[in-house]
Amino acid sequence: MSEVHVVLPDGTQVLAGTLDFDLTPAGTLAATRFTYSAEYLTATGAYALCPELPMTPRPMTSVRLFGCFQDAQPDSWGRHLLQIATRHRGGNVTTMTEESFLLDVHDETRLGALRFRERGAFQAPAEDGVPTLVSIDRLVAAAQSTTRGTDDAEGMALLLAAGSSMGGARPKATVRDADGTLHVAKFPALDDRWDVQRWERITLRLAAAAGISVPESRFIARGASHGVLLLRRFDRVPHVGSAADNHGGSTGSRAPGLVRVGYMSAATLLQHEFGGGYKPDYVSLSEDLQALSHAPEADAHELFRRVAFTLLVRNTDDHMRNHALLRGSAVGTQVGRALGWRLSPAFDINPQPLAGIPMAPTPIDFDDADGPERDIRRLLKNAASFRLTQDDATVIVREVEEATSRWTQVALREGANPDEFEFFAKAFENPNRERARSFNASHRAQ
Ligand SMILES: Nc1ncnc2c1ncn2[C@@H]1O[C@H](COP(=O)(O)OP(=O)(O)O)[C@@H](O)[C@H]1O
Ligand SMILES: [Mg+2]
Repeated sequence: MSEVHVVLPDGTQVLAGTLDFDLTPAGTLAATRFTYSAEYLTATGAYALCPELPMTPRPMTSVRLFGCFQDAQPDSWGRHLLQIATRHRGGNVTTMTEESFLLDVHDETRLGALRFRERGAFQAPAEDGVPTLVSIDRLVAAAQSTTRGTDDAEGMALLLAAGSSMGGARPKATVRDADGTLHVAKFPALDDRWDVQRWERITLRLAAAAGISVPESRFIARGASHGVLLLRRFDRVPHVGSAADNHGGSTGSRAPGLVRVGYMSAATLLQHEFGGGYKPDYVSLSEDLQALSHAPEADAHELFRRVAFTLLVRNTDDHMRNHALLRGSAVGTQVGRALGWRLSPAFDINPQPLAGIPMAPTPIDFDDADGPERDIRRLLKNAASFRLTQDDATVIVREVEEATSRWTQVALREGANPDEFEFFAKAFENPNRERARSFNASHRAQ
């Protein structure tokens, strides 16, 4: 049994409840049980950890892991690292379970505001501190050697201190800046066909220009090699009150003054199980977002803008783990001021020039069968589901179209090679650009 602790938006930490795993003899998940603590149910600022876990004193069970705990687990990249770490320790990778994947993530860098305690220690205590930016090249080399299967103990130790906490499939690590701030560092992958992180940075700049909220980012060029994208972690914010520091690992604080911010993926919001038959669409995401958000109208408008952007840059991997909400703070407000869920800053938006590679586009509505070639006219038709009139929706599409039409300028500023533009035009000059322009024109003609 693990204790689940939550850092509330005012920075106080509370025992939220207990989590039990029921594993089959083969180690697969049979059921999980969660029970809120009496202390949490009456704490000021306490909230339901996910839609599956309403605040009630009775134990709740599920055949799957509740979404809020899945969000605190690693995805394929983090699991890959935890498996290598187990192998390095002489352990048996085949005995790793959903429980060990949850508890082996390092406490200090774990995504969101949940912490797990067993036998008095927050899981998992880190042997080494979070690496600093100075170690970026060594981290990239270590990440690449795990893909090649040539990992060495020293590189792995460095990577493990930072690598397993975030979700996603791309190689990445959490690193600390000179001022103590935490960043996600996204690395090149060995099979990348272009400088993916440079183009993610270009896309972030375009998103900001299109009025979308994005995390602070920085691109680290690495000569002739592909570069690294640094994203300031939005689930850690500076502490502004006087509540006790809650950030450090069990051995004490390494970054005083950072408060953990609650995180919920859109998959958790929608109670979506990956691999199941049902595929959520943006209209249903908008409806569920509005039901939970502290600012439903503003968040619905922002989501609409993000979908328009996604279509105009041909981002085809916008599945439900690439959208999220944050609890209070971090969305332009101070810690503790806004007590509620808000859309997080946007992340993982990448132009995809290639057709026919694995991708996970989110349909616009239930009837959308266009796959990655989604049609922006369908988005406009659904404007009301995002609390927008046709006119206001058209204005947003026009703004996003204008901002993204300057993609070559932004790319040049970010050091891209013009020789690449013909290739990237397949993403940025996709049919939605003409469509967006044409209904801008018809709108003006009215
Ligand atoms: N700036 C950020 N701050 C905090 N968490 C982030 C940030 N950016 C991404 N994440 C989290 O890390 C996960 C992996 O990042 P993502 O960019 O989606 O990587 P990948 O390309 O591997 O999917 C995301 O699903 C999200 O939970
Ligand atoms: Mg992702």
